[in-house]
Amino acid sequence: MSTPHNSAAAGDFAKTVLMPGDPLRAQFIAENFLKDARLVNNVRGIHGYTGTYDGVPVSVMASGMGMPSMGIYSYELYSMYGVENILRIGSAGSLSADVKLRDVILGMGACTNSNFAAQYKLSGVFAPIASYDLLRLAVDAADGVGARWHVGNLISSDTFYSDDDGENAGWMKMGVLGIEMEAAALYMTAARLKKRALAICTVSDNLVTGEALPALDRQTTFTQMMEIALRVAVKCNG
Ligand code: HPA
Repeated sequence: MSTPHNSAAAGDFAKTVLMPGDPLRAQFIAENFLKDARLVNNVRGIHGYTGTYDGVPVSVMASGMGMPSMGIYSYELYSMYGVENILRIGSAGSLSADVKLRDVILGMGACTNSNFAAQYKLSGVFAPIASYDLLRLAVDAADGVGARWHVGNLISSDTFYSDDDGENAGWMKMGVLGIEMEAAALYMTAARLKKRALAICTVSDNLVTGEALPALDRQTTFTQMMEIALRVAVKCNG
């Protein structure tokens, strides 16, 4: 089997897939964290690998950037490759003075300014949420690695370069913790297909204070987020 976006065969993916946005991150994770990782997809350079961590099969594949890209890859993994759990691992901009650089946001919910939910033809506004099972495991894992973590809402935005300077003020007013670009599509796709999803984001910049993480620090915080995701992957798969 294959799709226009994924050349993997049936059975090539583990039940749990970690999804960074960046294909090179996926490759880095496969090479540095997984054992016996093999490349199972490389269509459009979207590296997908399957290996093991602590003896448990785990896959990693990039989502690309934005809701449409995440929507495609997560839909195919869930509905065509038998994947049960997707853990997005990425960066987010903090929308709160209390959520500092390097902190981890576990996205309990994901608001969005995208029209992605229109396809479901609902009679109101859907509230995309994470899997509680995965969230609970992630809180334990975040404590285990000594991360400073927050559980709350994300806003998945369609625009990185918004024409509206005041766009974030409304989300801040509603207590949303961080802005990123994929979680809501992942949560809606998981809900529609009766699967599990969670977004784990490290704070790379703070939109309240204007601070941004130096390049070197991004690697360290990334490693901590990876350890959280891999601990969840082992527990939810085992
Ligand atoms: N916007 C969208 N996604 C992001 C941002 C941002 O400011 N920072 C990190 N990911």
